Amino acid sequence: MTQGYFGRALPAPFRLRALDIVDSTNDEAKRAQQGGEGHGLVVWARRQTAGRGRRGRAWVSAEGNLHCSFLLDPGQDWTKAPELAFVAAVAVQATLAGLAPTSAFQVKWPNDILCRRQKICGMLLEQAAGLIVVGIGINVTESPAEALYPTTFLREQGSGAEAFDILAELAGEMADLYDIWRTQGFAPVRERWLAHAAGIGEPINVRLSDERVLPGRFAGLDEGGGLLLADESGRTQRILAGDVFFPTAG
Ligand code: BTN
Repeated sequence: MTQGYFGRALPAPFRLRALDIVDSTNDEAKRAQQGGEGHGLVVWARRQTAGRGRRGRAWVSAEGNLHCSFLLDPGQDWTKAPELAFVAAVAVQATLAGLAPTSAFQVKWPNDILCRRQKICGMLLEQAAGLIVVGIGINVTESPAEALYPTTFLREQGSGAEAFDILAELAGEMADLYDIWRTQGFAPVRERWLAHAAGIGEPINVRLSDERVLPGRFAGLDEGGGLLLADESGRTQRILAGDVFFPTAG
């Protein structure tokens, strides 16, 4: 354990950099990496002034919610780095399930976390030299009313946990999952992700980076974490990047 916020600690290999306010914890993690920090740094800030979401979107960062970034070593094979998105998603799902056991938390491809089809957590993975920054935002005390997806927050799901307590739990789950991934590969992570996946077998719409929307049925994950989308004729295509929408979620 390493000493952290007000004498609190994060489990090894994680080291805490706690801040009151920062532009973005992802940006702070990248600056720290440039300054010589490496695998295991965790940046946590109570507030972000320029929190970033996927695809250039802003991430509303209210005080009370959890904003943190993990600096992780993806190993020698850079092509496997995107698998860390699934490592992180499974770690967050397990953390939230432990904190609010009566609520059902699910993962949405590639790495959102939902509760009753409402988004409670988003993640932004970025490169930092040879490392990956895994930025995680969890709605704890509030969530934006105006968003791309319906949203919820942890208080609404019956947990009174504070942001730092959630981070401490999450760091433990992340340490375990990262270790499983490094020693056993992607298969056990993929299996756990699929066990908690929202919408397998259901109709979905996938919005690609060029804004095209592909309708189909969510047929699962390929061996590398790509989304399998089946069309009406049963033909399946592999999607590597996009936003998934459930037509029934409004
Ligand atoms: C998304 O769903 O669009 C991803 C949201 C990621 C937000 C987190 S909050 C902590 C970290 N710092 C950032 O600027 N973004 C991520």
